[in-house]
Amino acid sequence: MSDNNARVWFITGSSTGFGRSLVEAVLKHGDRVVATARKPEQLDDLIRQHPEAVKAVSLDVTDPNAVQAAVKAALDAFGRVDVLVNNAGYGAVGAIEEVSDEAIHRQFDTNVFGALNVTRALLPTLRQQRSGHILNLSSVGGLVSFPGSGIYCATKFALEAISEALAKEVEALGIKVTIVEPGAFRTDFNGRSLAAPETFIDDYASISGAMLQWLKDMDGKQPGDPDKAAAAMIQVVESDKPPLRLALGADAVGAIDAKLESVKAELDAWKQVSIDTAFEGAVIGTIGG
Ligand SMILES: NC(=O)c1ccc[n+]([C@@H]2O[C@H](COP(=O)([O-])OP(=O)(O)OC[C@H]3O[C@@H](n4cnc5c(N)ncnc54)[C@H](OP(=O)(O)O)[C@@H]3O)[C@@H](O)[C@H]2O)c1
Repeated sequence: MSDNNARVWFITGSSTGFGRSLVEAVLKHGDRVVATARKPEQLDDLIRQHPEAVKAVSLDVTDPNAVQAAVKAALDAFGRVDVLVNNAGYGAVGAIEEVSDEAIHRQFDTNVFGALNVTRALLPTLRQQRSGHILNLSSVGGLVSFPGSGIYCATKFALEAISEALAKEVEALGIKVTIVEPGAFRTDFNGRSLAAPETFIDDYASISGAMLQWLKDMDGKQPGDPDKAAAAMIQVVESDKPPLRLALGADAVGAIDAKLESVKAELDAWKQVSIDTAFEGAVIGTIGG
């Protein structure tokens, strides 16, 4: 891609993991990037290497004023945004009863409201352009909810719901949406980005305690390579027919496959009970018109 038609990416959570890998891959690809991070100085090395192509911007996605300022900085620097990647996020671990109210709110503030803040701030620009692609970093946990990380999975389910509706709302405006669903990838996620409950309840030790231990034990050994995930995300953006959902990793594919099969089997097994709940003679429409 020549400089004239190089895409402009806007990526949240660019300090480590998927965000950092994607910033590097995008730059290698010849595109330009607004790399946002809570500590933008972590991107100084990339600015030195690509002073024209990367703009580092300070952004905590839970701060709506900072989101507005970051969008303005992006447009001032490059005049447009072609790809928004809502990547910033972390994982609350714990049984539903164990995670405190405050920790639940914090988890939704970052993983759901953070992505909403940035998306809603950029949509006017994308609509005006009549083009753009939004990539939302969900998880295999956005389709399958795991005991011991139900709050985290709830945030990713929410992100999937928002993305699925948004995709249809903006399709006619030339804007695409892709939900990215990684399995276990070797980033900082299983280390510093895991938030354990302040207090554990003994009754859940074999569930949330085991989940936390499993995640910690896997730290540094996850099968997924974030650089390969970044390449897959670029491939999606370059595709004429990008998918609504992209699972990443054989573990994600396996878990999603099993979920879809079990939903289908249960739907079929209870289909008659489900159907027999309408008023006699009622007209059955399609949900959503
Ligand atoms: N790795 C996996 O196995 C996996 C699997 C499924 C989904 N994911 C998803 O992938 C995304 C990226 O995580 P990762 O695996 O790359 O882990 P990571 O290396 O720990 O990166 C997490 C990133 O999110 C940023 N972040 C957290 N809270 C933020 C906030 N309030 N505002 C702005 N940035 C914030 C962190 O910034 P700081 O450096 O400032 O903390 C960091 O840049 C997350 O949404 C995660 O849920 C990861």
